[in-house]
Amino acid sequence: MKKILLFASGSGSNVENIINHFKHNDFVTVAGVFSNNPNAAVLPKAKAHQIPTFVFNRTELQEGIVLQRINEIQPDLIVLAGFLWKMPETIVQQFPNKIINIHPALLPKYGGKGMYGMNVHQAVLENKEQETGITIHYVNEQYDEGEFIFQQRVNIQECQTSEEIAAKVQALEHEHFPKTIEKLLTPDTSF
Ligand code: GRF
Repeated sequence: MKKILLFASGSGSNVENIINHFKHNDFVTVAGVFSNNPNAAVLPKAKAHQIPTFVFNRTELQEGIVLQRINEIQPDLIVLAGFLWKMPETIVQQFPNKIINIHPALLPKYGGKGMYGMNVHQAVLENKEQETGITIHYVNEQYDEGEFIFQQRVNIQECQTSEEIAAKVQALEHEHFPKTIEKLLTPDTSF
């Protein structure tokens, strides 16, 4: 069985979607949900699916407690699904090409520090972009700079608000994130 370990900081709609996608999969399982935010809505969602959760603070992330917990699980893939803290180098270096992130825009545009959630969609709206999209990429030591795995574009010419853009992007995330994870873990799968 291939194991996915999810990291999330917020509402966890992607986490829930990924959990549901792999629920009846015989080859891939969600082994845990880790969060830096004890109040994150993602935690009750994971618990409702009987997925083990772990909440940590900055010290625990920096000083090896989180790494220890990761090593106990021995994941095949670490998936950042709305995780807002930077992964420490010690963790990134120990899992080369095994940590992926989803970004709600077409990187390299609209990436980097502070570019998360509605900030991204607001910037896209203000720049009057005709299209936006999602980028799924490997995680390296810099924010949003690892090698791209998958991108999908969407036309936003009709969108008047950042909320409308966010809804279009979220639909893309929900459609493509689980499939991309599945492809990485079971490369012979055809879609
Ligand atoms: C998503 O837009 C994802 O691209 C970003 O954080 C958001 C998480 O949303 N990195 P949710 O918590 O999965 O609803």
